[in-house]
Amino acid sequence: MHLPSQTTLDTLHNGFIQLHRPDADAIRAELSAGLLSPQACTSPKFLYDALGSKLFEAICELPEYYPTRTEAAIIEEYLPAIGRSVGRGCTLIDLGAGNCAKAARLFSTLQPVQYVPVDISVDFLRDAVGCLQQRFPHVKMTGIGMDFSGSLELPAAVRREKRLFFYPGSSIGNFMPQQAIEFLASMRDACGTDGGLLIGIDLIKDKAILDAAYDDALGVTASFNLNLLQHLNRLIGTDFNLRDWRHRGHFNPDLGRVEMHLEARRDLTVRWDDVERRFSEGERIHTESSYKYTREAFLSMLERAGFMPAGTWTDPHSWFMVCHARAA
Ligand code: AVJ
Repeated sequence: MHLPSQTTLDTLHNGFIQLHRPDADAIRAELSAGLLSPQACTSPKFLYDALGSKLFEAICELPEYYPTRTEAAIIEEYLPAIGRSVGRGCTLIDLGAGNCAKAARLFSTLQPVQYVPVDISVDFLRDAVGCLQQRFPHVKMTGIGMDFSGSLELPAAVRREKRLFFYPGSSIGNFMPQQAIEFLASMRDACGTDGGLLIGIDLIKDKAILDAAYDDALGVTASFNLNLLQHLNRLIGTDFNLRDWRHRGHFNPDLGRVEMHLEARRDLTVRWDDVERRFSEGERIHTESSYKYTREAFLSMLERAGFMPAGTWTDPHSWFMVCHARAA
């Protein structure tokens, strides 16, 4: 069995494969380096502990957070056209599958031969896939636990024919544009010559709409962001006091991205291991960037990554775009 070079197979049973997870030391080193750098930062992946994942689900229900429902409406409206563009019988590889709900809505139209939900943890996938398998008994389902941001090399259990990467939600916005192109290119490499990509992209729009989407009135996004500090306290033993920090979320038009920060409400010191980091009042930790693109800018990134755009669909306000591209 061919396995990705830098991963080891930890567990394989009932069609679920867990590739190795980064160890505690690697996580500690990554977080310490980020917190100690002049502009303190943390990777957005640390927003998603168990509570963070639930808070993100709540964000998707907020009136201000338009991406999830706008994407769902586009997919629902254009499902027949998407189906004609993609064709039947693909190997559907769902990146960041979570509860698998988005992919499930494609099943009757795309009729995938194999469904491969990929997420950082198979534990999260197991229940969702169990339900789905009952509804679609003839689709082979192979859950994979892996951090696909590092490498997209998939285990041999994943069929090579007609691979379609499904990357919804504008998750690609978390990458810087150059890294996004590299990640697209790695999908291009992993999907073969008969494969493709179905991806959701959040489009550049009025700043007020973007600001509200990332700083909602109810404060759910603020809780989602602040929960990161709680997660870090548990992960590496930092002594962050959540009451000392405030959420910031706003669109930066110069860089074409929404930025989330945590801002110190007073001068303070954070300690962990044998290090400490001082923050002055107003100083920030950059916790997430979420890039927004114009249709044209994103299509040219796809081309640079070796994809040929085959179809794009959008909502009446052009707030969000769903795009199918084929390996060029
Ligand atoms: C899951 C990365 C697509 O950037 O909109 C939502 C995460 N952060 N609110 C996004 C998020 C704050 C979301 N992505």
